[in-house]
Amino acid sequence: MRITMVGTGYVGLVSGACFSDFGHSVVCVDKAVAKIDALKQGIMPIYEPGLAELVNGNVKAGRLSFTTDLAEAVADADAVFIAVGTPSRRGDGHADLSYVFAATREIAAALKGRTVVVTKSTVPVGTGDEVERIIREVAPDAEAYVVSNPEFLREGAAIDDFKRPDRIVIGTESEVAQEVMREVYRPLYLNHSPILFTGRRTSELIKYAANAFLATKITFINEIADLCEAVGANVQEVSRGIGLDNRIGTKFLHAGPGYGGSCFPKDTLALLKTGEDAQAPLRIVESVVRVNDARKRAMGRKVLKAIDGDVRGKIVGILGLTFKPNTDDMRDAPSIAIIQALQDAGAKIRAFDPEGVEQAKDVLNNVEFVADPYVAADGAEALVLVTEWDEFRALDLARIAESMTGKALVDLRNVYPPHEVAKAGLAYTGVGRA
Ligand SMILES: NC(=O)c1ccc[n+]([C@@H]2O[C@H](COP(=O)([O-])OP(=O)(O)OC[C@H]3O[C@@H](n4cnc5c(N)ncnc54)[C@H](O)[C@@H]3O)[C@@H](O)[C@H]2O)c1
Repeated sequence: MRITMVGTGYVGLVSGACFSDFGHSVVCVDKAVAKIDALKQGIMPIYEPGLAELVNGNVKAGRLSFTTDLAEAVADADAVFIAVGTPSRRGDGHADLSYVFAATREIAAALKGRTVVVTKSTVPVGTGDEVERIIREVAPDAEAYVVSNPEFLREGAAIDDFKRPDRIVIGTESEVAQEVMREVYRPLYLNHSPILFTGRRTSELIKYAANAFLATKITFINEIADLCEAVGANVQEVSRGIGLDNRIGTKFLHAGPGYGGSCFPKDTLALLKTGEDAQAPLRIVESVVRVNDARKRAMGRKVLKAIDGDVRGKIVGILGLTFKPNTDDMRDAPSIAIIQALQDAGAKIRAFDPEGVEQAKDVLNNVEFVADPYVAADGAEALVLVTEWDEFRALDLARIAESMTGKALVDLRNVYPPHEVAKAGLAYTGVGRA
């Protein structure tokens, strides 16, 4: 199969590299010249474990290439995937589909022969209809089939998720398109990853419903964590106690500072707008969005409470900035609101993150970025663990306690056993642990 990926971001690059690893011939296209130039030199534009090896191995094998020339890449393709961004539209929270529609127009103008055009970007119900309409308008004679194939990979574990998905969802009623998509995913099909064929609109909605459900699960346990703190219970034990029930499941029941990232915040908002427009409001998701928004800044207040006194002019050390570990992605990371709340109270912020600093510089102001977690703690009134990178798990807490001026350790991911923190001479604050 000849596959073209339009948009070489987190999803496009990982998907393109994995498809090439299956043996397909893949061209990844992007408008960002610097990104494509870097990839041609073997330099990854993002941090994702295992990605550089996967990309460079497949480039060497002649199955994967990069270009800014969309027309040439589309002309020969059996399947063209649209993997461009669908951020929140400024002002109203609808998904901004301008990148998807612009890419569609360019693709339509370049179509030659039978081509399946696949929307991998997360797009609201009905977007496939509009993509199809644009193609018919720009290229009335093209033999094109428009398919929805949402992506469920998680940053930080993207390659494994792509190669071993829980399911593959393909939305199309066309048998021709189904056949091509079966061929595209055949290696996974052989590995028994379930493929779910649905209508196109259903497929588009599955992606939003999945993300909204996961965001709900996180927000649910976060509110239970608050209740635990108020009544003297332990949220980790509650999570385990409910998660062992197969109907509930143990995943996504870790209390923390609220969800962030490139998907949940924008996708929950976009789903609300779809519900509003369809006059089928999603009140549970509405609450989830509101509760999660309030939570991030509340975590800043939690830190201030732990410091117990005026924080003005004092240093607060931050461990972890990205929205989760093993990525450099800072989009809607909880650290942004937490740091803002602390700065508003007059704190000086000193932060360490293993991979996220370059992106963090674009979204955080007046933060001193340091290259070592121990330096973040040095002279700090409080140390706050925001993102649970593995390398924070085994820090020498006694050494940290010695170098700090204050004694507050605020663990927003419940990584440290409280008794070990206490033994090191630090005052522990976790989430949902009374
Ligand atoms: N990041 C994730 O974990 C994830 C997971 C599942 C689904 N998704 C969805 O996948 C889509 C892409 O997300 P992402 O995180 O990879 O975005 P991203 O911002 O990392 O990448 C998008 C890329 O598309 C390029 N682009 C935009 N218009 C283009 C055009 N006309 N031609 C060529 N390139 C163009 C941009 O330059 C950019 O490099 C979104 O809809 C997102 O919701 C993301």
